[in-house]
Amino acid sequence: MTLRDRRVQYETAGLDVSDLDASPIVQWQRWYDQAAEAGVAEPNAMTVSTIADDGAPDARVVLVRAADERGFVFFTNYDSAKGRQIDDDPVAAATFAWLDLHRQVRVRGTVERVSAEESDDYFASRPRDSQIGAWASPQSQPIADRAALTARVEEMTARFADGPVPRPAHWGGFRLGPVSIEFWQGRPNRLHDRFRYLRDGSTGHWRIERLAP
Ligand SMILES: Cc1cc2nc3c(=O)[nH]c(=O)nc-3n(C[C@H](O)[C@H](O)[C@H](O)COP(=O)(O)O)c2cc1C
Repeated sequence: MTLRDRRVQYETAGLDVSDLDASPIVQWQRWYDQAAEAGVAEPNAMTVSTIADDGAPDARVVLVRAADERGFVFFTNYDSAKGRQIDDDPVAAATFAWLDLHRQVRVRGTVERVSAEESDDYFASRPRDSQIGAWASPQSQPIADRAALTARVEEMTARFADGPVPRPAHWGGFRLGPVSIEFWQGRPNRLHDRFRYLRDGSTGHWRIERLAP
């Protein structure tokens, strides 16, 4: 089938404002749980878009490791491209695409580092090989070849021997604190349901509006 002819008819039940929780985080959790139950691959994957040096957006997938009223937490290398971009301009957009359920969630907001304790706690829960990987990989930097990476892994494996692997200072969490969250439910004939929560900066309350598809 050609790209231009590929078309899915979304026959899923609609979304009404009465279906939505007053909290977009509770609503997100509900949809996340449904995506996980439906067997969506990596339902905690989100595409995070940041702003690069040249002013243009840069986007990549990361995994959400915690979500609460403060926002969505993901872990990465603070010296990576995304880490530096966030340091320079601490804003981001994130997109969850749960395509099997014909759903999308879009988040916009500000980003800050989580506490060192939070990063330590999560780092300690990672498999040892991933902990070594965080030390071995100069994420986003050009490297000569795969062998160079393997050599770094061997070097770090030897360095920590049988002892615990501490969290590198250049590795930790970021929290995307939402100022808006949009829930999109695919409907027949491209007449989709869209609801956007907007946070009132002074009260912190969420207002919900329906958007045209
Ligand atoms: C499913 C999936 C999950 C990923 N999860 C993470 C993650 O949690 N943290 C991370 O740093 N990179 C993750 N990555 C790799 C990133 O997409 C990206 O390649 C890397 O972080 C470097 O991005 P940057 O150069 O823009 O900083 C994941 C990639 C995929 C496809």
